[in-house]
Amino acid sequence: MRLYSSVIFLVLCGCGRSPLQFPLERTQARLERGKYLANAVAICFHCHSERDWVTPPGGLPADGRLGGGRVLHPGFRLTFPNITPDRETGAGTWSDEDFYRALTRGIGHDGRTLYIEMPYRQFSQLSDEDLASIIVYVRSLAPIHNALPKSEIPKEVMAKMEPLPPRMGRFAPDLSTRQRRGAYLVQAAACTYCHTPRQKEEDLPGMAFAGGMPFVGAWGNVASANITPDPSGIPYYDERMFLEVMRTGKNDARKINPVMPWPYFREMAETDLRDIFAYLRTIAPVKHHVDNAEAFSFCRKCGYVHGLGAMN
Ligand code: HEC
Ligand code: HEC
Repeated sequence: MRLYSSVIFLVLCGCGRSPLQFPLERTQARLERGKYLANAVAICFHCHSERDWVTPPGGLPADGRLGGGRVLHPGFRLTFPNITPDRETGAGTWSDEDFYRALTRGIGHDGRTLYIEMPYRQFSQLSDEDLASIIVYVRSLAPIHNALPKSEIPKEVMAKMEPLPPRMGRFAPDLSTRQRRGAYLVQAAACTYCHTPRQKEEDLPGMAFAGGMPFVGAWGNVASANITPDPSGIPYYDERMFLEVMRTGKNDARKINPVMPWPYFREMAETDLRDIFAYLRTIAPVKHHVDNAEAFSFCRKCGYVHGLGAMN
């Protein structure tokens, strides 16, 4: 009986069959969907481009730099690779499958395990068709010639990185309700990457979406917000306020720093933003005070220094 049901399961989900045909077919539908996802949802270029913090709203890719990569120094050298199709300095010689593997497993074109700053733990939850669309679009970008040094990540940090296992069969997430569609988009947008505090490259248990991680740079020193429905989070948000924040970077009381990538997310379809909000209302409340308008102090709960840290 068990064998019988697993045979049925295999037939139903098509497990074992190659999920996508490589090289990927270039279709107009994929190009358009990929353009939307890469720019407005999965915000590939928030990371993989030099950004312009001077021109409002701040933080968008600098002119002519879309996908050209940049280097960051968070204590070690981390390179956001040039993912444009430039053959010498970018991804021109990589295959569609290389991209798929990077996005779903965290393995680079040269076979090395990627650091989790590339949100493959989240992107690996995307449907085959959405991943195919992103890849087709990114590979259609104008090539940018921009040679960058390789990342130099300390061995002890990389020792904790594990590539994800290969995805088997057809991968089609359940998008049957607003909350599920919202949860899916939150994976695609890697909201947790900034909003769930990590220590030693792992999410802190019980702290999903509770904020507190500091981001320091041209935009200032800003900690991510607690976006759970707890009284210390954003219980007072309604859909209107959420749309306003995501579209304009302002809530009724104050401006939201553009290191929160609302200048990208504001291009999201209204239905998608509404679905995200529907999902955010369902996440577990976490008590964790974070306020960027208050003096920064050490927080025992998340281990970072942020506004109201000492209150936790
Ligand atoms: C939060 C920042 C961030 C976001 C968002 C992001 N990436 Fe990355 N990506 C990185 C970093 C950092 C690396 C390199 C990691 C390393 O050196 O170990 C990387 C690596 C890659 C690689 C592998 C490069 C190689 O050497 O083979 C590809 C392909 C890639 N990203 C594509 C994308 C695409 C497509 C998107 C959007 C769907 C995206 N990335 C979104 C940070 C990001
Ligand atoms: C690159 C990191 C980053 C990502 C990705 C990110 N955020 Fe944020 N977010 C922040 C930071 C930092 C702040 C605090 C900004 C401030 O206080 O000015 C913030 C603030 C917010 C706020 C405002 C809360 C308040 O205090 O009123 C909301 C809502 C929010 N984020 C939702 C989201 C959602 C939903 C996603 C995914 C679609 C997301 N964020 C992805 C960094 C990020």
